[in-house]
Formats: sequence, C-alpha cells, structure tokens
Amino acid sequence: MPADGTARIEWAERRMPVLRSIRERVAAEQPLGGVRVGACLHVTAETGALVRTLRAGGAEVALCAANPLSTQDDVARSLRAEGIEVLAERGQDVAAYRRGIQTVAASGVNVLVDDGADLIAIAHDADGVIGGLEETTTGLLHLRRMQLGCPILAVNDAQTERAFNDRHGTGQSALDGILRATNLLLAGQTLVVLGFGWTGKGIADRARGAGAAVVVCEVDPMRALEARMEGFEVMTALEAAARGDVFVTVTGAPGVLRREHFERMKDGAVLANAGHFDVEIDLEALRGVADAPPRDVLPLVEEYDLGGRRLNLIARGRVVNLAAAEGHPAAVMDVSFALQALCVEELVRSGAALGPGVHPVPVAIDNEVARLKLAALGVEIDTLTDEQVTYRRAFA
Ligand SMILES: NC(=O)c1ccc[n+]([C@@H]2O[C@H](COP(=O)([O-])OP(=O)(O)OC[C@H]3O[C@@H](n4cnc5c(N)ncnc54)[C@H](O)[C@@H]3O)[C@@H](O)[C@H]2O)c1
Repeated sequence: MPADGTARIEWAERRMPVLRSIRERVAAEQPLGGVRVGACLHVTAETGALVRTLRAGGAEVALCAANPLSTQDDVARSLRAEGIEVLAERGQDVAAYRRGIQTVAASGVNVLVDDGADLIAIAHDADGVIGGLEETTTGLLHLRRMQLGCPILAVNDAQTERAFNDRHGTGQSALDGILRATNLLLAGQTLVVLGFGWTGKGIADRARGAGAAVVVCEVDPMRALEARMEGFEVMTALEAAARGDVFVTVTGAPGVLRREHFERMKDGAVLANAGHFDVEIDLEALRGVADAPPRDVLPLVEEYDLGGRRLNLIARGRVVNLAAAEGHPAAVMDVSFALQALCVEELVRSGAALGPGVHPVPVAIDNEVARLKLAALGVEIDTLTDEQVTYRRAFA
C-alpha cells in the first residue's frame, strides 16, 4: 500500500522536537496572523512540518517546488487536503516548475522562504514583501550580486545550519542517494569529493566511515590544506579522474567535471552531484564524448559508453540527496526549519528596521535553536561563573 502523506509528515514531525516546541508557542501567541508566506522549498515531509508550524502561528502559506524532481507527491496531496496551496508535482517539466514559482511570487506574499533564490529573485521588490530567507550557498551567492528590494536573512550562513544541515545532513544523505541509486559497496572504493566546504567535509567524513579511500579536490589552498591535515589524499581533479570509482561534486561551481576528466575515468565510474544546481558535471561534454545517447541501466542511473568505458551518471547530475534519496533526515531539518520559523517571526517583528540587502541571522536566534535542540536531546551544559564573566570582560 502506498505511504500516506499525512503519516509521512507525522513520522517527520516526531523527529522534529525543536520545531514542535516552536509550534506550541506560536499556536498560543499567533505572531504570524495576517501574514502570507510564499515558500519555494523541496516539497518533502519535513517541509510539510514547517508549513504546518507557520500556519499554526497564524500565517497563510503558498508552497512551490525548489527542484522539479524532489517533490513527494503524497505529501503535496496531504497538504492540499489541509487547505495549503501547493504548486508542485514530482517530475514536472521546467515550464510547470517555473509557473509554480511565478504564481506564488504574484500571489500577494509578505515573507519569502527560499532554497535556491528562484522565488526571491522575482518577488523581492513586489508590493507588500517584508523580507525573505535564503537557505542555500548558491542562492546567497546570487542574491549578494543583486540590488535587492527587501531584507534577506542568510539562513544558510547561520552556525546551526552549517553544522547540521550542510555537514551532517548532506554528509549522510548524499551518500544515501548514491547507495540507493546504485547499491554499491563503498568499502574498498575510491571516492573523490570535489569541493571541501561544509557539505564536502560531511561527505568525505561519512565516506571514510563507510570504508572508502577518500580523495579531495579543491581550488582553495586553506581548504585543501585542511583536507590534507585531516588525513584525506588531496590532488588535482585531473589526477583524481584516473583514480576514482565514485565522484561527488559539491562546489557550487559549473563544469567541475568536464571532458578532460571523463576521458581519463575508469570503466564503471559513478558520477554524482550534491551541489545545488545540475551544472557541476558538464553534461553537454559528457554527451559529446560518448559514442551514443545514454542508456538507462537502473531507474536513476544513465550509462554513457565512451568506446567501451562506461560512465554512470546518477539522477542526471541533479542534487543527488534529493533526486535519489529523501533529502536530509528529519532530525537535521528540525534545526534548519526551526531556524526558518524563528526567522519568519523576526522578519514580521522587525523586518522593517532592516534595510534591503542580505543580513546575517541574529546570533540570538542561532543560540536559541542550539539551546532548544540540546534541550530536546536531554543535554544540559554549564554556564560561565561570575568570576569567569568578569575575567573575560577584562580582556574584551
Ligand atoms: N545537497 C544538499 O543538500 C546541499 C546542502 C547544502 C549546500 N548545498 C550546495 O552544495 C554546494 C556547496 O556548498 P557549501 O556550503 O559546501 O559551499 P562552500 O562554499 O562552503 O564550499 C564549496 C567548496 O568548493 C570549492 N570549489 C569551488 N570550485 C571548485 C572546483 N572547481 N574544484 C574543486 N573545488 C572547488 C570551494 O573552494 C569551496 O571550498 C552549493 O551549491 C550549495 O548550494 C547542497
């Protein structure tokens, strides 16, 4: 029997104690009464939990997809049945996906919650918009180059987000996507991680834990040095191309794996992308070096034949943890979405005082999320003694 979307949302909610505690409070205080939130997010059970929380706080929510392949249709159906506008369907074509974003942008929204900046890019200067949130590195890069019409809180850069979402969330779920798509045994394989940022670090750590020999490729000398000091082999992508069994791009840059790399790869190599956009593996170049159009060898794996050497591409180079798995585990999204719920409240409360442009998430919100998460885990920590406070002040 197919899973029911409501049951799936409830499964996620049971693993999201921080968001649940925020929901209880906002349901009593109604800080979002009269506010319309436009959200462009991966339509998953965890997103369902966020949307329900915003609604509990009094908001009206319209939801569209941040990726045409990541929507869980059962979740979308259940949210619609609860009266939430959801403009998303798994596998929708690019035109329908764009239409969903445009429809939400033009629907009189006040707060924008985005993952990839597609919604903010077209709605930041619309009438009635108080501000927005952006949760991904690539999205922020784009927004920082724009002349924005409203304040945007850089949720992606919050400390809790970096540690939980990028490192632990992507670290585990990117490998989960690769394993679900291929059923590979990682032990004994050489896995090449291209990009050793927060997400790359998580993937490298988890792959090492699963028994793979991990190679890191970087362009930033500090990050490359860090990888070397953590015990990973560091080399150029060209050198790694001939060594790797599995390649994972996670840089935010286009054309990280390209023709010269494909030409050196071993027969059977597996290619996956965990970066936000499907630009990191140069698909045009891959098609160009192959003898024939790719053939589907598994539901999510296309095989490109390069004169007898076969390269296997997962999920057409789209973000692998969402396209081939279920995205981050609920325990991770608990932190991300708790941060987002508190940031929506912050924008409604004091967005007008922030000027247009990208702003950091207030430290107090970051700390509050960490505090709530520790409480949910049953962990108590120490506080500074008076003597320690005085001592530190003397050197401040
Ligand atoms: N899949 C997910 O769930 C998920 C989660 C968070 C972020 N992301 C995406 O992953 C990408 C990376 O995010 P991040 O937070 O780790 O960014 P980051 O800026 O912390 O790290 C990216 C790293 O890639 C390196 N890099 C850039 N170009 C490179 C190249 N050509 N070759 C090798 N290394 C290169 C940079 O020097 C940097 O160290 C972004 O697109 C981001 O949006 C995905």
